[in-house]
Amino acid sequence: MFDTKLLSPTPENIDYCARLIKCGEIVGMPTETVYGLAANAFDESAVRKIFAAKGRPADNPLIVHISDIDMIKTLSTDIPELAWKLAESFWPGPLTMVLPKTHKIPSVTSGGLDTVGIRMPKSPVARELIRACLLPLAAPSANISGRPSTTSALHVLNDLNGLIPAVLDGGECEVGVESTVISFESDGVRILRPGIITADELMSVAHNVFIDNGVLNEVSSDIKAASPGMKYKHYSPKAKVVLVDGSLESFIEYAKENASEDTFLMCFDGDEIPDDLNVVYYGKNSREQANRLFKVLRELDELNAKTVFARVPEKSGEGLAVYNRILRAAAFEIVRVGE
Ligand code: TXA
Ligand code: MG
Repeated sequence: MFDTKLLSPTPENIDYCARLIKCGEIVGMPTETVYGLAANAFDESAVRKIFAAKGRPADNPLIVHISDIDMIKTLSTDIPELAWKLAESFWPGPLTMVLPKTHKIPSVTSGGLDTVGIRMPKSPVARELIRACLLPLAAPSANISGRPSTTSALHVLNDLNGLIPAVLDGGECEVGVESTVISFESDGVRILRPGIITADELMSVAHNVFIDNGVLNEVSSDIKAASPGMKYKHYSPKAKVVLVDGSLESFIEYAKENASEDTFLMCFDGDEIPDDLNVVYYGKNSREQANRLFKVLRELDELNAKTVFARVPEKSGEGLAVYNRILRAAAFEIVRVGE
């Protein structure tokens, strides 16, 4: 057990965390998307500590974070021309590229795959920490596996207090959902996990952008998924979440008929909801919904919600990232109303 320290991101504290990481420890790190749980990507036993702390399945690979483009050369070879162009356009930022890995990356880090997901975060604190370590950092989202990702240092403590030595507190994450994950095909890229960098934005650099089937569909646990993370239970608050797809009017009608005392509605800002129904709001547009989704899912636990009826977000553009997460939070349970 640790007495987990919550540290402001001063140069001294960043150095302190870098020393912990260089000694084989794991540390909570802010990024612009969500908080990460960081270790030296080359250190097998440090990376094992991440899997143990999170309770993460061993075949789910970690993203490796870099602070400077040159670091990529120690992680991958045979980097396609398109990857360099995408890096130029979108790094530092919330884009993860899956590339062939070098032998320097241990198999625990890549979940046994011969590829590695690489990302250069935009968060200055994250990049300062990587620079202070002089090492690429493997970091999954800093939550217990299956729970919503963490978008503040306090959320990290809620999940991992006592299990890690320190969390750097970089405030609330700007984006709020995890990075867009892409792999490369001979004629373009494939989105394995949607994020705030959209298919249209990628299209401005790549000729073809395919959206993997697993983005909107349940991936069975016994098959080999393009991105192993797709097949696991994800983003779940304690409550059972149901997506209720239809107009606001039919949503309210459904809620009135089916809600009990400990049911909460998850609505868009501006939705007018009758006073006798419990409600939380998660933003008026896709960007705000992305920013607040995980925070609201955690708030629902604090409110002791047992059931949640959620309004369905946009299914394209930045909304696709929100829809992909909330679908998994709801274990793909959708009720269509007003048809
Ligand atoms: O924004 C983010 O990406 C955050 C911050 C901390 O950088 N990280 C994050 O990591 O969300 P994690 O481990 O929670 O999610 C990584 C996802 C998983 O779904 C994993 O399966 C996929 O990326 N992934 C990682 N490496 C991969 C690879 N080599 N091939 C296919 N999918 C990969
Ligand atoms: Mg995660």
